Amino acid sequence: MNFLVLPSTLRSGTAVVPGDKSISHRALILGSIAEGQTEVSGFLAGEDCRATLKALRDMGVDIEEVDATDLRINGVGMHGLAQSMQPLDLGNSGTAMRLFAGLLSGQSFDSILTGDDSLSGRPMKRVTNPLTAMGAQIDSDDGTPPLTVHGGNALVGINYPLPVASAQVKSAILLAGLYAKGETFITEPGVTRDHTERMLRSMGVTLTAENGRICMPGEQSLRATRVQVPADLSSAAFLIVAALIASDCELLLQNVGVNPTRNGVIAILRDMGADIVLENARVLGEEPVADIRVRSSELHGIDVDRALVPLAIDEFPILFIAAAAASGQTRFTDIGELRVKESDRIDAMVRGLRALGITVKEEQDDVAVQGGHFTGTTIDSRGDHRIAMSFAVAATRADAAVQIKDVATVDTSFPGFSACLHSLGVNITQQEGSIS
Ligand code: S3P
Repeated sequence: MNFLVLPSTLRSGTAVVPGDKSISHRALILGSIAEGQTEVSGFLAGEDCRATLKALRDMGVDIEEVDATDLRINGVGMHGLAQSMQPLDLGNSGTAMRLFAGLLSGQSFDSILTGDDSLSGRPMKRVTNPLTAMGAQIDSDDGTPPLTVHGGNALVGINYPLPVASAQVKSAILLAGLYAKGETFITEPGVTRDHTERMLRSMGVTLTAENGRICMPGEQSLRATRVQVPADLSSAAFLIVAALIASDCELLLQNVGVNPTRNGVIAILRDMGADIVLENARVLGEEPVADIRVRSSELHGIDVDRALVPLAIDEFPILFIAAAAASGQTRFTDIGELRVKESDRIDAMVRGLRALGITVKEEQDDVAVQGGHFTGTTIDSRGDHRIAMSFAVAATRADAAVQIKDVATVDTSFPGFSACLHSLGVNITQQEGSIS
C-alpha cells in the first residue's frame, strides 16, 4: 500500500490520537502475570500490540476485548503461563520481542520468538547478554531473531550497567528479575522511558529508581490494577509537526502522555521556536498527561542537545522534517541508535530528504539538515511506519504530489493515520498495490 499526498495544509481543529504503544504492551504483559483482572482502557489496537496480545493468548491468557480499546485481562499469576503450541510471531515489534525474551527466561517451558523481515534483522544481543548473565539460556541466529528461550533455568539477580540507553533492555531485565533470586540493579547511561517501573509499582512491586539506578528485589508477585492508557506522544508528534509547518493552524491534541522520560520532542521543537502549550496537565493512573495546543510557527535550526536523544528516540524522523522546514541548519549528533530501529532511520531519512530537494550532510552518526523547500517526488518508506508518516507530513508542504511507498506498517503504531490527516484537511489517499 502507498500514500499519495497532494500539496495541502493542515487546518485548525481537535484530534485524539491512538493509545500509547509502550504502555499498551506493558499493560498486556504485566496484566497477564498479575493476580486478578486488569482492566485496560485506551489500549492501542495497532498491529504491534495485537501481536503481543495474541502471543499471550497463545500462552493461555484469557484476554477479553470489551471493544477496540478496552480490555479485561484475566491474569494467570507469575507461574500460570503455558507453553505455546506454535512459535510466538511478534510481527514488526522490537518491544514485544525484547520484553518477551525477559519474561520467558523465567518460565518452566521453552518458547520460540519470531518476527517479520525487519524484526529478524534487529540486534538482540543487547537483551540476551544480560539475560544469559542472569542464568537464562537463549539461542539466536547470531544475535538476531528467531530466539529460542529455554525454560526451567533458575535465574539470579544482576548488577548491570546498561551499555546502551534502552527502555526495552531495561524492561526485559526487570521482567526476568521478577523471577530471579536476589536483587536486580540496573544503571542507565541516559534517561529512558520509565513506563515499566511505574506500572510495576502500581501493581504492588517493590522497586526504587534514583539518579539512573534501579533496584528491585526478586521473586515478587503482581496484583491486578486498572490501566488508563494515554494517547501516544510519539503518534501525536506527527500532527504536532504538521501543524507547526502549516500556514495558519491551531491544533488541540487531547489526553496525550507527557511522561518526562519521553517528552524530548517537545523540548527540541520549543528550542526551534515552536509554539506548543501543555494545558490541563493531570495524572492518569501512573502517567502524566496533558492536552497539547500547537500553533503554526516559524521554526529555526538548532544544535539538538545529545542528552535529549533517548528522550525523543522515536521522534527523530519527524524532527528531521521539522528541521527541513525550518530556517537555517539543524544538527543532530550521536543518533546512531536510529540505525537499528525498524529500518536504518538515518539512511532512510537522509535519502528521502534529498529526494525532496533538501541539503543534508551525514557523517557517521551525525546529521546536519539545511532548511529548504520540498519538491514532488516518490519516497521509499522501507516498510517503516515512522518514516512513512514523517514523509506524509512533509508532503503537505511540497510544491507537487509526493508518493510514499510501502506504508502498510503505519498500522503497527497509528491505525487511522491517513483518515486523521484527511479529516484535518490534508489531501492524502491510500493506494493499494506496490509501485516501482
Ligand atoms: C520502547 C523503547 C524504545 C523505542 C521503542 C519503544 C519501549 O526502544 O524506540 O519504540 O516501549 O520500551 P529502545 O528502548 O530500544 O531505545
